Amino acid sequence: MKVRIKQLTDEINALYANTMDEVEILRIKYLSKKGEVSALFNDFRNVPNDEKREIGQLLNDLKNLAQDKINGMKETLSATGKMEKRNDLTRTAEPVKLGTRHPLMLVKQEIAEIFSRIGFTISEGPEIEDDWHVFGALNFPPEHPARDMQDTFFIEKNPDVLLRTHTSSVQTRIMSSQQPPIRMIFPGRVYRNEAISYRAHCFFHQVEGLYIDKNVSFADLKQALLYFAKEMFGADTQIRLRPSYFPFTEPSAEMDISCNLCGGEGCAFCKYTGWVEILGCGMVDPNVLKNCSIDPEIYSGYAFGMGVERITNLKYQVKDLRLFSENDVRFLEEFKGAY
Ligand code: PHE
Repeated sequence: MKVRIKQLTDEINALYANTMDEVEILRIKYLSKKGEVSALFNDFRNVPNDEKREIGQLLNDLKNLAQDKINGMKETLSATGKMEKRNDLTRTAEPVKLGTRHPLMLVKQEIAEIFSRIGFTISEGPEIEDDWHVFGALNFPPEHPARDMQDTFFIEKNPDVLLRTHTSSVQTRIMSSQQPPIRMIFPGRVYRNEAISYRAHCFFHQVEGLYIDKNVSFADLKQALLYFAKEMFGADTQIRLRPSYFPFTEPSAEMDISCNLCGGEGCAFCKYTGWVEILGCGMVDPNVLKNCSIDPEIYSGYAFGMGVERITNLKYQVKDLRLFSENDVRFLEEFKGAY
């Protein structure tokens, strides 16, 4: 009898319930007329007389313990409002929602990796700039339309504090602070005062490239860009350079790649030309080198700048630029497997 009382005491001390229903089941198990504790009371008459006093005391203690325990559990459950069902530990876990990297960042990363394979390192510059680094040092004449309020965002009406309109500003910062050889790319966000539509936004992303050393030629530029195009869009990709104009490069060019949608045969995307433009480039103008304290008699170099949105459009056929900045999870999730 004593042994049984001891067993039940331990059992009751360890009782645990998550819901009121469970408490009730325990109450019935121990304290109802046919419950375990009551059963011991029924056996009480068989206890020898000389033990009755002691065992009777133990039985009463046990009954009180069970009663207290059950009431205690009821109180805690109603106080914490924890009435829900016990967790099913065998259930499959809720799938953890993984975030995705933004397509523009994926493409930026890929551009950086491709150029790092041919010796380019990465640097960055400020988005809030002054006139000298964005325009002046880059040979923009004072009356150049890019300096106009219509294209450039000025900060606090001060014409010398502005949001950079291109990452070429990082060229001037780097060239003014270090001597060649310089072989770097500068990824970053740029701002232009444009009406927002599916094909233009007031901010977008560029990756600028700059290589300054002795004897750098236009052939070096072409070779680096051809390598980039083939790595980015596939080994069959062709490039073509068309003469163009930028104040800070001479000669200047725009580069097209063979349309990666139709393979150059002509489709709506390339407006049936077989070619799509992806970047501007050229040999750094000697004036720009001079402005940045690099001797153009000793050094020459090339620069290029590409829009990350444009490359992403080509790679993933995103037709509407605005999707990139709307943070629509359904759009972003499309790029789950892209890295
Ligand atoms: N900065 C130019 C643009 O934003 C691109 C460019 C970069 C052109 C470097 C030539 C050299 O359009």
